[in-house]
Amino acid sequence: MKTNQLAQVALLLWVVTIAVFVWFFIRGSTVAGTDGRTAIVLHPRERELVLTEMRGLLAATQGILEGANQGDMPRIIKAARAAGMAGTADVNPALMAKLPLEFKALGMGVHHEMDEIAKAAEDGKPAAELLKMTSNTLTKCVVCHAAWQLKAGS
Ligand code: HEC
Repeated sequence: MKTNQLAQVALLLWVVTIAVFVWFFIRGSTVAGTDGRTAIVLHPRERELVLTEMRGLLAATQGILEGANQGDMPRIIKAARAAGMAGTADVNPALMAKLPLEFKALGMGVHHEMDEIAKAAEDGKPAAELLKMTSNTLTKCVVCHAAWQLKAGS
């Protein structure tokens, strides 16, 4: 085989490797779900970690609504901040690799918006505006739950 051809084969293999890597990065570790959604296959402990984070998001949402009802701004700030980006920093890379790109984007979007809600409350924005922001964020919860399921695997 000529050097030129070898170089072409090497280049092709390199492109294929990158393409496979990108494919897995976008798709994550997924299979067809049991109810029409797509299931993300996680180790049981990783699944529990994600579900714990989910219950944290629900608690944050409740805290924001209760704070708004009672005109208690510090309660809103505390609840929203607890679900902000700071809490996601320690998620391990192996778990991140299993999550599809779209899932990560939606999830990060929610955490980012929780920080925005905390900041708006700190800036003294009225409760009506904070509720509007929260309601916008909740659409992301709904969209994600409609698309994905978590399945325990390896
Ligand atoms: C990036 C996707 C995504 C976003 C965004 C998201 N969730 Fe989830 N959530 C999931 C998935 C997937 C499950 C597991 C569903 C299943 O397996 O049927 C789940 C489960 C839950 C559960 C059940 C927890 C348990 O212990 O079983 C709660 C509560 C929850 N989510 C609340 C929320 C709230 C509140 C928000 C928004 C503030 C939110 N989630 C945003 C993907 C998401």
